[in-house]
Amino acid sequence: MTTEATTLIGAVQMRALRASDAGPLSAAYRQNRNYLAPWEPARTEEFFTPAGQRAVIESKLASQVAGQEVPWVLLAGSHIIGAITLTGIVRGPFLSANVGYWVDQEFTGRGIGSAAMGCVLAAAKDDLGLHRVQAATLKHNAASRKILGRAGFEEIGMAPAYLKIAGSWQDHVLFQRILE
Ligand SMILES: CC(C)(COP(=O)(O)OP(=O)(O)OC[C@H]1O[C@@H](n2cnc3c(N)ncnc32)[C@H](O)[C@@H]1OP(=O)(O)O)[C@@H](O)C(=O)NCCC(=O)NCCS
Repeated sequence: MTTEATTLIGAVQMRALRASDAGPLSAAYRQNRNYLAPWEPARTEEFFTPAGQRAVIESKLASQVAGQEVPWVLLAGSHIIGAITLTGIVRGPFLSANVGYWVDQEFTGRGIGSAAMGCVLAAAKDDLGLHRVQAATLKHNAASRKILGRAGFEEIGMAPAYLKIAGSWQDHVLFQRILE
């Protein structure tokens, strides 16, 4: 899979996560800390530091080498303004992965999340040979549901107490996109 940057919209680009992203990524998470808090797991203080992000990235890149994960970042110039990641890649008869994503609050509503999703679905099908991508959202996450609807995901059910988000086990709506 290419590690070259792909242009998404305007000057916004998407490329594979790199070890050298720890500084800009920690800055982006600090900038969006309150905005992302309702939609993400509770974070440690360490998570918002370059050292914390170095450890997170190291773990993600190790998962990538093991074939379990593919992480990308979204960039405006040298600033990271979002991320999108395929996690839990399973091969065999499942050929499935989960997708997770966020976009910097200052950049939302411009189609960046949707464009990134389009690129990731193409990579999941053409580069990884997957059959299916799954996403899980909180019921009231209208922006996320809009991205999924636009990308052709179908709702497949409600999973009670599915993920620990913002410190509590919360019900999630599950969506899948069959790639063939
Ligand atoms: C969800 C998220 C990635 C969307 O990114 P984005 O770049 O704004 O996405 P897009 O611009 O491609 O599409 C978002 C759509 O949702 C719409 N939207 C945003 N907030 C909305 C709301 N409260 N109610 C209804 N629609 C809303 C936008 O208008 C846009 O639709 P449009 O293009 O028809 O106008 C971003 O809001 C985010 O990072 N949220 C916090 C983290 C998160 O929820 N991640 C997903 C977890 S499942």
